Amino acid sequence: MVEQNRQVYQARSIVQHYSQLRQLQPAEQTILDLFRSEWSKITLLDIGVGGGRTTQHFSGLVQAYMGIDYAPEMIAACQERFPLADSSDSSGSSGSSNPSKVFQVMDARQMQQFPDHAFDFILFSFNGIDALCHGDRQQVFQEVSRIGKPGGYFFFSSHNLQGIERELNWKNQVSLNPLKTYVNLIMFGLLRFFNRSISLKQLQQADHEMIQDESHNFRLKQYYVRPQEQLTQLQTAFNAIKIYSWKSGLEITTPDELSANTEMWLYYLCQIKEPEL
Ligand SMILES: C[S@@+](CC[C@H](N)C(=O)[O-])C[C@H]1O[C@@H](n2cnc3c(N)ncnc32)[C@H](O)[C@@H]1O
Repeated sequence: MVEQNRQVYQARSIVQHYSQLRQLQPAEQTILDLFRSEWSKITLLDIGVGGGRTTQHFSGLVQAYMGIDYAPEMIAACQERFPLADSSDSSGSSGSSNPSKVFQVMDARQMQQFPDHAFDFILFSFNGIDALCHGDRQQVFQEVSRIGKPGGYFFFSSHNLQGIERELNWKNQVSLNPLKTYVNLIMFGLLRFFNRSISLKQLQQADHEMIQDESHNFRLKQYYVRPQEQLTQLQTAFNAIKIYSWKSGLEITTPDELSANTEMWLYYLCQIKEPEL
């Protein structure tokens, strides 16, 4: 299933889709503003860089920028979108003049190539990590805490199980607008069909679940997690964890707000702990 997700991200139409994206999501803009005075001192690793949507916003601000992706086609698209001249001096002699130093094919589960504490800030944007199953994600969290500097940051987003739970309940699809109700019910039917092995009751009792959702016409199977469970998973390697609404970019500050949140995904900002001796 993880391999199937990778194949989806390698497809030409999907690569084209991500290569055309430009705007930051509100939560990403919040973080860009929050660190405004610090970016120039930061080495940034952009995991799952895709077609380079975030590259155009962050790479010019930071001291050093590297984008990685396990889909070679995505990396090729980035190299095309940000050609040599964008990242090199005019003599072409600096280390950054070689685009392969800026963009590299690499799987987030296997980042042995990076030494310990190599990056100040690690980004895994737009739910890229959700293409992985539970065990693989824990491996990524461990790797991120190894290659990130203690006190540095990891910022990523992940699908919200509370959001899909809402979508998988037909009662929530009925609105006063008949056309909207019709469209909602069709989407609900497709979602139920592609996830027919999972009952609503099962979902309500789960902390996390792999869901074949509507992204890219139901071709991806993605990890959905309850925000409270995500916090628990992160607490071994990270502290000072903050959660942001992807839609408003505002921090979600109370447990009540968090447990009532039904946005389809949320952003997590985590500080990397000191390694245990
Ligand atoms: C939803 S796209 C987002 C792309 C880009 N970050 C953006 O926001 O537009 C997720 C990206 O993560 C990449 N990805 C997923 N799992 C990965 C892994 N284990 N290692 C590296 N990249 C991965 C995919 O190939 C894809 O390009």
